[in-house]
Amino acid sequence: MLSDGRPGLRIDALRERLGGLAYGGDYNPEQWPEKTWAEDVALMREAGVNLVTVGVFSWSALEPEPGRYTFDWLDRVLDLLPENGIAVDLATPTAAPPAWMIAAHPEVLPVLEDGSRLTFGARQHYCASSPVYRAGAAALVERLAARYAEHPALALWHVNNEYPGVDGCHCPVSAAHFRRWLADRYGDLDALNDAWGTAFWGQRYGSWDEINPPGPVLGDPNPSQVVDFRRFNGDASLECFTAERDILRRHTPDVPVTTNFMASYKLLDYWKWAAEEDVVALDAYPDARDPIGQVRAALNFDLMRSLRGGRPFVLMESSTGPMNSRRRNSARPPGQLRLRSHQAVARGSDSVMFFQWRASRFGAEKFFSAMVPHAGTDSRVWREVRALGAELRDLAPVAGSRVDADVAMVWDWPSWWALELRGRPSTDVAFHDQALAHYLPLWRANIPVAMVAPGADLSGHRLVVVPNLYAVTDAAAANLTRFVEDGGHLVMSYFSGVVDEHDHIRRPNAFQDLLGVRVEEFNPLQVEETLTLRWSDGPASTAAEWQDLMRAEGAEVLAVFEDGPFGRCPAVTRNAYGRGTATYIGTRLDDARLRALLLDTASAAGVRPVADVPDGVEAVRRGEHLFLLNHTDEAVIVAVPGPCVDLLTGTRHEDALGLDPQGVAVLRGQPL
Ligand code: GAL
Ligand code: ZN
Repeated sequence: MLSDGRPGLRIDALRERLGGLAYGGDYNPEQWPEKTWAEDVALMREAGVNLVTVGVFSWSALEPEPGRYTFDWLDRVLDLLPENGIAVDLATPTAAPPAWMIAAHPEVLPVLEDGSRLTFGARQHYCASSPVYRAGAAALVERLAARYAEHPALALWHVNNEYPGVDGCHCPVSAAHFRRWLADRYGDLDALNDAWGTAFWGQRYGSWDEINPPGPVLGDPNPSQVVDFRRFNGDASLECFTAERDILRRHTPDVPVTTNFMASYKLLDYWKWAAEEDVVALDAYPDARDPIGQVRAALNFDLMRSLRGGRPFVLMESSTGPMNSRRRNSARPPGQLRLRSHQAVARGSDSVMFFQWRASRFGAEKFFSAMVPHAGTDSRVWREVRALGAELRDLAPVAGSRVDADVAMVWDWPSWWALELRGRPSTDVAFHDQALAHYLPLWRANIPVAMVAPGADLSGHRLVVVPNLYAVTDAAAANLTRFVEDGGHLVMSYFSGVVDEHDHIRRPNAFQDLLGVRVEEFNPLQVEETLTLRWSDGPASTAAEWQDLMRAEGAEVLAVFEDGPFGRCPAVTRNAYGRGTATYIGTRLDDARLRALLLDTASAAGVRPVADVPDGVEAVRRGEHLFLLNHTDEAVIVAVPGPCVDLLTGTRHEDALGLDPQGVAVLRGQPL
C-alpha cells in the first residue's frame, strides 16, 4: 500500500501500466446503443487509444431512482475495454445530480448572487455546501469504488468535472457554512471586523448570524468580504473533492486520483487544489484561430506543470476541431491538432486526450468536435486522430520526464481576485493580461518559465518575474525579498505590494526597500493616452495604461517619463539589493521594450534560451528530448547542437533539419 505522503508512486504505476503517454478522451457509451460499443473499441484500437474517461455525467444512468443502482451497463463497458488494451479513467458522476434528487430536494440547486435559484436542465446544478448533495454523492461514490476497486480496467479516478460549478452559492445553507468558515478563520468577531474593515460605512457586525455572503448592494460591496467569500467558495468545493477522494483512497489506495482543471481559471486557487491530488489534469480549449493561441496554450501548460512542482500533468480534454461555445467556432486548420498536441507533451503533459471520443448526436454539445466526428472515419479529422495516436506511441520515452526552468513567474490567485474588484485606481489592470504580456517575450525567446506561488521555495530559479502582485502577505513579501538578497534577480511591474491579504493598504509598500523606490501616487493613463519614455541605454519608447509617480530611493533609474502633466520622473528602476537586483516597471511598456528589458535581465542572471531557432519556432527541452515546433506557415531550417535522431521519423540529423509549416521534431541524442 502506498502512503499518502508518496503520491508520485501512484502516478509512476499508471505510467508503467500505459507503457508511455496516454491517448484517448471522454467516452460516453451511455449516449449510444450498445451495438456501437464494439465499433468504438475497434476504432480506439485503430487510433492507438489506451485510456478513456468513462462516466463523467452518468449519475442518472447509474442510480435512476434513489438507492436503485444500475451498474450492469458500466460493468459491460469496463469489461470490454481492458480486453482491448484500453485502461479507464473512471469518473465519479457527481457533477450531474439526477432529476429525482432535485425534485425531492430543490434546495440542492444553487442560488445565484441575485437571489435566483438555478433550475434543473443542464449540469453542475449543485450547492457545494448541501448536505443532501454531499450525502448522495458520497453514497454513490462509495458504491462505485467498492464495485470497481479490483477491476482490471481501473487506472485513474476522475472526480466530478470542472469544479466549482456555480461561482459561489448564496443559499441559506451556504451562508451558514460561510459563517462557520469565518468563525474558524478569525476565531472572534473583533478579528473579523478588523480584517473586513467594517468601521468603514458602519458595517460592524455584532453577531455571527448577521453575516451573509456578499449579495446585491448599492454601489460597491466590502472588498475584504468578497475576497473571503471567494476563498470560502473554493474551500467548499475542495471539501467535496477531498470527501470523494478519501472514499476512493480507502477502496483503492494505489489508484491515482485527479479532477480536471480549467487552465488559467480565475476562481479556484489551484495551488491548494493540486496539493490534494495525485496528478494535475487540464482541460485546454484555445481558439483555433487565435493568432497567439500557441502562446496562451504554452502558458497554461507551464502553469499546470508547475502546480505540482514540475511533475508531468495530464491533458485530460482538448478538442480535435471546433468547439460550440464561441460566437463562431472555426475548424482547426490542417496540422494544428498534431502541432498543439505535441506542444502539450513538450511542456510536460503525459497524455493527449479529448472531449470527446464520439461526437454526440443530441444535447447541448452536438456540434462540439470529437475523435470520431459525425462525418465518420472517412474524414480528415479521423485521419489526423489516427496518425497522432501512432506518433504518440513513438514518444513513450518522453513520459515521466521533466521540463526545468531558470525563470519563475509569480502566480497568486488571492491577489488576482482582489486586483480585479471594482473601486481600484483603474479597472483595466487585469492579472492574466499582465501575466501574458510578461510571458510572451520569454516564450518567443524560448526561455522556459515555471509558475510559482509567492511563498514558494525560489532557490532553483535565477530570475523571478512578478507581473503584478497587488496583494501580498508579509511572509510572501519576505520570501521574494530573501530571494534577491541571496543573489536572485527579480522584475516586478506596477501596482504590486499595495495591500495585504485582507485588501488593506500597506504603508510602506511591501516592496519599497527591495525596489529602492517610493511610490507616492498612482496615475492610470486614459485609454489611448501614451507617454514618452527616455531610456539611459537605448531609444525612446512609449508608456501606456499606468504611471507610478515615484521617487528613487537608492535605485538606479533606467527610464524616465519625459512628458505628461507631472514632468520628468522615474518610470523604470533597478535596485542592487543584497547579492541580487530588483527591477521595477512603473508603467506598461510596449512589447519590444518589455522584451528587451526581460531578456537583458535574464541574460545578466545567466539564463540561456533552449535553442537558437527561427522566429515562430518553439523549442522546449523535456528531459533528454528537444522538441521543435514550427508555429509558422513557412518551412524553416533549424540548426541542431549535434548529431541526433528524430523520434517521430527515425531520421538522423547532423547539424540542421528542415521543419515543414506546422511541423514538429522530437530530437534525442548527444549532446542534447
Ligand atoms: C469541458 C467539459 C466537458 C465538455 C467540454 C466541451 O469544459 O469538461 O464536459 O463540456 O468542455 O464543451
Ligand atoms: Zn448553497
